[in-house]
Amino acid sequence: MTDKKTFELNGEKYVELISEEQIKRRVKELAQQISEEYRGKCPILVGVLNGAFIFLSDLIREMDIDSEVDFVKISSYGGGRVSSGQIKAKKQFDSHVDGRHIVIVEDIADSGRSIQFLEKMFIETKPASLKFVSLLLKEDNAVVDFKLDYVGFNIPTKFVVGYGLDYDQKFRNLKSIYVIEE
Ligand code: IMP
Ligand code: MG
Repeated sequence: MTDKKTFELNGEKYVELISEEQIKRRVKELAQQISEEYRGKCPILVGVLNGAFIFLSDLIREMDIDSEVDFVKISSYGGGRVSSGQIKAKKQFDSHVDGRHIVIVEDIADSGRSIQFLEKMFIETKPASLKFVSLLLKEDNAVVDFKLDYVGFNIPTKFVVGYGLDYDQKFRNLKSIYVIEE
């Protein structure tokens, strides 16, 4: 397929950035890497709500090792396209974590504040190990120091939707990832 899919809504143009096929292929690769690294360790995959729910559900189904699943909910965006910079935990992680291997699963890292916040929050639970996987990384947009152990795709500093990612809570159901052209 050479043609990019596009659509228009409320005067804005949505252009496909990463296709369903590309996502599938990359998620499979990440799942294989994570499976190899955690074989025999039964990690707890912790999805960051709401955005990561689709990525996490595809990722675990491509993994071939035992794992557990839990979720945290944090908020930073007030509803628009710019992060408020203020992060709060809205739902605490509640699995039994003592000495467990934790893999935090995010949809996207932008400023890096969410990842940094989660690292501080989870380090206190004294996990056996703590790693981060994010499907997307806006590589030129980091404003704080943070590290990701696995990244699906590096993307430009533009607002994207689809495959779990929202704009005003919409578009999470799109099968590919679209960029909103300004
Ligand atoms: P950060 O804390 O600035 O790294 O932002 C991370 C969070 O902001 C992500 O988990 C998303 O929920 C949200 N976010 C950042 N960029 C986008 C985007 O382009 N589309 C939708 N949500 C985004
Ligand atoms: Mg998120």
